[in-house]
Amino acid sequence: MNTIDRSKPATIVIFGASGDLTQRKLVPALHTLSCGELLSPDTRVIGVSRSEYSDEAFRERLYAGIVEYSRAASGPDHVCQLWSDFSKNYTYMPGDLSDLETYRRLGDRLERFDQELGTRGCVLFYLAVPPTLYTMIVDRLGRAGLNRSDTGWRRIIVEKPFGHDLESARQLNEEIHQVFAEDQIYRIDHYLGKETVQNIMSFRFANAIFEPLWSRNYIDHVQISVTESVGVGHRAGYYEQAGVLRDMFQNHLLQLLTLTALEPPVAFEANALRDEKAKVLKAVSPITDAVRGQYRAYRDEEEVKPGSETATYAALKLWVDNWRWRGVPFYLRSGKRLALKSTEIAIEFKCVPHLMFQIDRERDIAPDVLSLCIQPNEGIHLRFQAKEPGAGMQTRPVTLEFHYAEAFGAGALPEAYERLLLDALNGDASLFARADEIELAWSLIDPLLERWESEDPPPLSFYESGTWGPSEADQLLARDGRGWHQHCCSEG
Ligand code: BG6
Repeated sequence: MNTIDRSKPATIVIFGASGDLTQRKLVPALHTLSCGELLSPDTRVIGVSRSEYSDEAFRERLYAGIVEYSRAASGPDHVCQLWSDFSKNYTYMPGDLSDLETYRRLGDRLERFDQELGTRGCVLFYLAVPPTLYTMIVDRLGRAGLNRSDTGWRRIIVEKPFGHDLESARQLNEEIHQVFAEDQIYRIDHYLGKETVQNIMSFRFANAIFEPLWSRNYIDHVQISVTESVGVGHRAGYYEQAGVLRDMFQNHLLQLLTLTALEPPVAFEANALRDEKAKVLKAVSPITDAVRGQYRAYRDEEEVKPGSETATYAALKLWVDNWRWRGVPFYLRSGKRLALKSTEIAIEFKCVPHLMFQIDRERDIAPDVLSLCIQPNEGIHLRFQAKEPGAGMQTRPVTLEFHYAEAFGAGALPEAYERLLLDALNGDASLFARADEIELAWSLIDPLLERWESEDPPPLSFYESGTWGPSEADQLLARDGRGWHQHCCSEG
């Protein structure tokens, strides 16, 4: 993970190649990697799904996606007109994914690539299909013998959601493990592919000045907010089954929590890192303080049941019960149709033990806050007190800011899928979730789900679209004498 190598020749097989994910994320990311010469020119992509496309029609569809979504196609410094060179690397194979014959044909094509291109049996399978198809595809891959190669590697990327609860996640792990070993499995959480999420580790462990403060001794509490301004849109059918806990907390928010709270791994290596993340999840005590909310217009969305109880917002208070974090609450919140799209981690420091200045506003003195601005306006803000110029010793908060766009140039941030695809091709699983991590995350969320989906759920708090969520979420913090930090990252 420390240096980024250009990938070696390999074939990527995308199941579900006629879908949105392939067009909007996967192929635009692969194209940007090709333009940046990070992908071997002998990489081939085979799209597989039921729809009948010719290679040409498939490529046209992909090209439209690249024009619209690829950084390489749109970024001013990355204009790339190489599609005419790369497009031949993309081929299509229509097929019934339940039919073993499809996999035999796929096997023949893979062998042909091996002979023509020197891909040496190296294949990355990508499950860009609905989760209900995961087990079946994995089973067929195993039965067709495509899960192993005598000459190269075989890996499989599994998209989220990984399971629907702890039980189904365990079962899915078991079923995949019957065909693929753990080190062949790459479970995606696209938040881990975000540059700013990876920077949490650099910030903490490549600097000497912050880590000594990173504990109960100096930190009052931590807030992790992932707010979205969009509603559920055309995904209401899925969302009705998922709700915010499955959609955002079990994966993205808990991943942000682990990176914020983990101990320094012994090495920057996949298993060392994931061991530490798993330890954080094991240390979290059962979550008892939670608020569930729903935006008022949700029940009017198409495909939403009248009277639906699905939560589109949640706020949780949790404790990481270990030596470092004893007594420091972590507040997590996420919701749809909120005031702003923003992901930030706010670390609020304790107040000074003794204030020697005789100022009028002692009670109002704001604590220091470090905000890790994950998106948008990517960067880091540090708010602290400064003396107001003039007579007396009045202070007021000021902010030190670092922004990626200023420091590294606009367009410097890769898309999450670029990094994740390249890492999977290079065999680096650091930014992918391990089986135990997934199960530990579910074991924290499951009891809440059980309560929220029971016959007698806790009250659902409604909120207006475009606000910061239900007032009950404010009370969750107010009870502890605290308040949410609203968009510290947008002040720049
Ligand atoms: C996905 C969720 O995993 O993450 C979506 O299914 C959500 O509901 C999305 O909108 C948010 O991702 P990002 O990268 O836009 O913050």
